[in-house]
Amino acid sequence: MKGVLLAAGLGTRLKPLTLATSKMLVPVYDKPMILHALNTLVCSGVTQVLVVIGRDNCEGIIKLIGDGSDWGVKASYVVQNERKGTANAVLQAERFVNGDKFVVMAGDNVFQDCFKKELDSFKKSKFNGMLFLKKVSDPSRYGVAEVNGNKILKIVEKPKAPKSNLAITGLYFLDSSVFDYIKKITPSERGEYEITDLFSHLALQNQLSYSIIENYWSDVGTIQSLTEASHYFSTLSKKL
Ligand code: G1P
Repeated sequence: MKGVLLAAGLGTRLKPLTLATSKMLVPVYDKPMILHALNTLVCSGVTQVLVVIGRDNCEGIIKLIGDGSDWGVKASYVVQNERKGTANAVLQAERFVNGDKFVVMAGDNVFQDCFKKELDSFKKSKFNGMLFLKKVSDPSRYGVAEVNGNKILKIVEKPKAPKSNLAITGLYFLDSSVFDYIKKITPSERGEYEITDLFSHLALQNQLSYSIIENYWSDVGTIQSLTEASHYFSTLSKKL
């Protein structure tokens, strides 16, 4: 199984932690945040990872992950030349994916769970995409999904007046048909090619399934969420 690990973010909201190093190397409890994301891919059954890096501060990521053998995967790299958003980052993986189904993981997302069972059923399903949603208290920070039964009705990126509390986490299962649509996406108001545009399209076509995560998840892009996640993993390690 192939996985695409998104690691090009600048970490603007984490300054000064990210002034001299990649956001991906900022620790969440006992390891750089990107290793949490990589572990989740590996324990979900991913064996080949393409890491999408930016031009700035990417050396440390390559030094940490190397060819992937220290972490149980085969790793390779592609540079996202300009900061053009998540859909553009995923597009960099078209050659690597080469017609297969694949997993996308944002390098700043940390999960408690592994997703092997969900990945096995996605591989057999007819859906072009699958999302993992999490009930949150601050949905305006995220892409938000409106659902009815097992159907996703609508997706909105960072809504001012969210219609649900279901945040879209940074873990997606996709198939290679999505690249054609990604190429048609135009930049949003914040100047980025939004992955949520793809999800809205797939939802309209009834091609998007979802699962709600009950266990811990966090996007550690802010100092507050980073501190909370470190605390969470430290208490988890005491319990184990
Ligand atoms: C991105 C996505 C958003 C999603 C979030 C999860 O937001 O655009 O839909 O909810 O990741 O981590 P960003 O981190 O670019 O603000």
